[in-house]
Amino acid sequence: MNIDGTPYRTIWRDPDEPWSLCIIDQTRLPWSLEIVRLADVAAAAHAIRTMQVRGAPLIGATAAYGMCLAVRADATDAAMERAAALLLATRPTAVNLAWAIARMLARLRAAPPHARVAAAYEEADRIAEEDVAQCQAIGRHGAALIAAAAARRGGARVNVLTHCNAGWLATVDWGTALAPIYTAHNQGIDLHVWVDETRPRNQGAALTAWELGKHGVPHTVIADNAGGHLMQHGQVDLAIVGADRVTRGGDAANKIGTYLKALAARDNGLPFWVALPSSTIDWRTRDGVAEIPIEQRAATEVTHLTGPTEAGTLATIAVTAPGSPAANPAFDVTPARLLSGFITERGCCAAGEAGLLGLFPEQG
Ligand code: MRU
Repeated sequence: MNIDGTPYRTIWRDPDEPWSLCIIDQTRLPWSLEIVRLADVAAAAHAIRTMQVRGAPLIGATAAYGMCLAVRADATDAAMERAAALLLATRPTAVNLAWAIARMLARLRAAPPHARVAAAYEEADRIAEEDVAQCQAIGRHGAALIAAAAARRGGARVNVLTHCNAGWLATVDWGTALAPIYTAHNQGIDLHVWVDETRPRNQGAALTAWELGKHGVPHTVIADNAGGHLMQHGQVDLAIVGADRVTRGGDAANKIGTYLKALAARDNGLPFWVALPSSTIDWRTRDGVAEIPIEQRAATEVTHLTGPTEAGTLATIAVTAPGSPAANPAFDVTPARLLSGFITERGCCAAGEAGLLGLFPEQG
């Protein structure tokens, strides 16, 4: 997508040294656009762990390129397995991480050591390109839902609520939940996005608002607690969110707070859709609440906020009573029964095993 007229992806090969990777450092957005170069697997793992890159599909693509950097340094079996373990330990909830590493390992184990570097880059490039194509397809399928909402409203502006950042910054390009929004906007549908701020790390206020603004999509940032009120007053037509892991049974893990929005949508009879590429489906799990590991992050993300001072330097301030402990579960699980359905690269389906298997019969 474009930043001030220049097309960007979130991860790309450095044109001068194409074995290395460039990423947009998302911990610096929206205040400054800083490109970071990844030159070894430790840097790739650091980027995922510290959330310089984040969002399920982008975490997967970064891990795939991390495996390239690892085999470039040492293509032995032992080094390859060590790199996979290092990357796998960075973040627990988004299944795209394990999916991408497993795919890379399968490709690399089948190649002799001297052929592994070429095989790794070929596979990682393929993972990145597939992600772009899948997100674009999600955009097409999801835009039809927004067009239908516009038709129901007789062409009046459609209000879409989203949570966290599931835009192009969270994928290689286009996004998942935001892809239908970009596609519908590009088609000329009059829409407006309610952007949940998404405490504690504020991915909505910092990242979703930034990328929607750069693309010219009308939007308003709201406090996380405002969504239910807006729904009660007819100011939300549908909600679209992303996912970090969807079980075979159709339960969806996404950024903390998603579950509460789904409950509010159900109480108000509003559609609540989850957009995801198939790399986010964990076919081995069924009960999301029982089986999906939830990342517990630092309490300081809750107790402190960072932003620019009037002088333009970044400052961190405390927002909670000194000494009060804070808990920070980073994701929650929305049960399938609260979802209207899934928007995938193969089309839309009901949230549940039958719906998913209808689109992905090869997993039956
Ligand atoms: O902790 P984050 O910022 O990596 O969490 C991201 C989300 O929860 C997104 O909604 C999800 O990964 C879908 S991304 C297209």
